[in-house]
Amino acid sequence: MNKDCLIQTVDLSRFYEDGRVQALEGVSLQVPAGEFLGVKGPSGSGKSTLLHLIGGLDRPSSGEVYFSGQKAGELYRRKGFRLNHLGFVFQSFYLWPVLNVLENVSLPLMESSLSRQKKLQKAKEIINLVGISDKINASVHNLSIGQRQRVAIARALIMDPQLVLADEPTGNLDSRNTENILALFKTLNKQKKVTIIMVTHEEKALEYCDRCIQISDGKLQ
Ligand SMILES: Nc1ncnc2c1ncn2[C@@H]1O[C@H](COP(=O)(O)OP(=O)(O)OP(=O)(O)O)[C@@H](O)[C@H]1O
Ligand SMILES: [Mg+2]
Repeated sequence: MNKDCLIQTVDLSRFYEDGRVQALEGVSLQVPAGEFLGVKGPSGSGKSTLLHLIGGLDRPSSGEVYFSGQKAGELYRRKGFRLNHLGFVFQSFYLWPVLNVLENVSLPLMESSLSRQKKLQKAKEIINLVGISDKINASVHNLSIGQRQRVAIARALIMDPQLVLADEPTGNLDSRNTENILALFKTLNKQKKVTIIMVTHEEKALEYCDRCIQISDGKLQ
């Protein structure tokens, strides 16, 4: 096992329906801390499955995920571990439409022991970082799609995670917003040293990622 890797998967497999569907097969992958990794592949090839297994949203049928050299399955069971170390961004943003930007971004801080003022300060910083300070009090349902994705990214970042897992974060965006979001991820990766694993169909993403891997039929190419 490589201790310099933030994430390592060893022979990771996920089968469904008694093994008839092999969503992921024998994937061994090393992701060094600080890397911006792209994951590409055809629809149904197992990209989301891989991301879910890495983030502990799903369990492998066999194989192992390591987080900083420790078995992820054990770490993720610790209360608050994933909340404090992982950030998720999905194609559909899962925001609360009636809450405003500040409230949505602050949600993960709910159980934090920080003072009210510190929480507010943190939320404002991150909202500023993703470039929507002018919308801080706007309800999410009044925002554009690109702005909503920025809210989702800010929320994923508010706990200062070491790892951000993004599943087609630009899938619902036009080309201009896609480039904006990719550039934003790049900035976060470089400035905040966040390790990012991003599933994407975008050819452009290659220009932003440090490395891009390809999954086909559940296997790493
Ligand atoms: N809960 C499940 N039960 C049965 N089969 C599943 C389940 N989840 C995923 N699969 C199958 O596993 C395979 C991989 O799915 P996955 O969602 O990881 O693909 P993907 O690469 O993310 O595709 P897309 O680009 O369309 O999002 C597919 O054949 C899918 O049908
Ligand atoms: Mg998917």
